Amino acid sequence: MYPADVADDLVEVLLTEEQIQARIAEMCREIERDYAGENLLLVGVLKGAVMVMADLARELSLPVEMDWMAVSSYGTSTRSSGVVRIQKDLDTALHGRKVLIVEDIIDSGLTLSWLLENLRSRGPESVEVCALLRKPEAARIDVDVRYVGFEIPNAFVVGYGLDYAERYRNLRGLGILSPSVYEHEDD
Ligand code: XMP
Ligand code: MG
Repeated sequence: MYPADVADDLVEVLLTEEQIQARIAEMCREIERDYAGENLLLVGVLKGAVMVMADLARELSLPVEMDWMAVSSYGTSTRSSGVVRIQKDLDTALHGRKVLIVEDIIDSGLTLSWLLENLRSRGPESVEVCALLRKPEAARIDVDVRYVGFEIPNAFVVGYGLDYAERYRNLRGLGILSPSVYEHEDD
């Protein structure tokens, strides 16, 4: 799944490429049922959602448009703060649209609850969320995520779009990053 030098940086492989693809296919069947006959706008959150967006959009047998947002939430490289800033906004007007936010991972949920409020203020017909991964802490916030791929343990994960310091995004599976890679970041 990855080059040997990357294997040393992972504690374990959490999800294989095959497991991820099988779950994405299941999620797509649900989305197809819920949006049959609709013209859906997928909104991907850069950069982590690039892989899930690419695979989800190609697996869906619905007409979809894709647009992208980049947001940054201030914090350390492994914890988010909830203070969010738009770095790249959508090109598409949301008024009257059915929108599905495509996210890589929901951790504290702070980024997502900010994003939902922001997109809902633009007058869409509906906004729902599809996230490949969700960590346990997300249960504490009141955000309704319609489609969740996997509930994962509270560890820092990389691969399949998720990075540490911009590395590991191109891994086909998902792994738990060894704390030895980042434990000196605050020194
Ligand atoms: P919150 O806490 O606002 O954070 O839900 C969501 C964003 O934080 C990043 N994040 C991670 N990135 N491995 C990563 O590579 C992780 O384990 C992880 N947990 C949170 C990610 O950018 C996500 O959109
Ligand atoms: Mg990130």
